[in-house]
Amino acid sequence: MTTKRTRLDRYISNALRINRRDVKPLLAAGRIRVNGAIARDADLPINQFAVVIVDEQALPCVQAQYLLMNKPAGILSATKDASQRTVFALLDAHQHADLHIVGRLDKNSTGLLLLTNDGEWSRGLMAPDRHVEKTYMVSVKHAISAECVEAFARGMHFPFEDIVTLPARLEIIAPRLARVTLTEGRYHQIKRMFGRFRNPVLSLHRTRIGAIILDPAMPPGASRALLPAELESSAVGGGGSLSRA
Ligand code: URA
Repeated sequence: MTTKRTRLDRYISNALRINRRDVKPLLAAGRIRVNGAIARDADLPINQFAVVIVDEQALPCVQAQYLLMNKPAGILSATKDASQRTVFALLDAHQHADLHIVGRLDKNSTGLLLLTNDGEWSRGLMAPDRHVEKTYMVSVKHAISAECVEAFARGMHFPFEDIVTLPARLEIIAPRLARVTLTEGRYHQIKRMFGRFRNPVLSLHRTRIGAIILDPAMPPGASRALLPAELESSAVGGGGSLSRA
């Protein structure tokens, strides 16, 4: 869902079917509250998630939803697909109206997937200039070399897009197991980077996006609402990006 914006007087005149002129005296008398605060400005920007109360009567609004899922392998992270199951099949029907995915994972990748109906939040989290870190546990077929670690840190040229990848952190945990941290999300990025070293990726599991960490005990396919602290830390201006640390 894209974030729909309007101004407060237009919103109230539509909701109450009154003239926009007639909203002004309500504002002047302090009879309108927006997200808990008395509103005075007719042109206050309002989105579909705003809680607007007129004389103690709440106007209809859309509930913002922020979900965290442990994506299982073998299922698409897509809104819909003609022939294959998508992650939306794992949610209750009432949960997935209007949700979209924030930063997809490949079909065989697993781990942290975020879903929301708040387009402003997801765009902020994924904005290329925000460099929010994403961390993955990656197992590969062959032992990882020091050259590979250096190449990830230096950046690699991707001829198809004609870009150089941003510096990525590759930490060797075991000869064939690494923790990889990216600050961008290019198509099949980690597989292509290991591909340069002819080292196929066997499994790829995302554990973190910014300050949001997947609970290690969460079963594959399970989901839950984000906690207020997680939401706060991932909002634009929150402490989600650690990339320049
Ligand atoms: N890099 C990949 O190659 N695949 C993913 O799913 C995520 C990052």
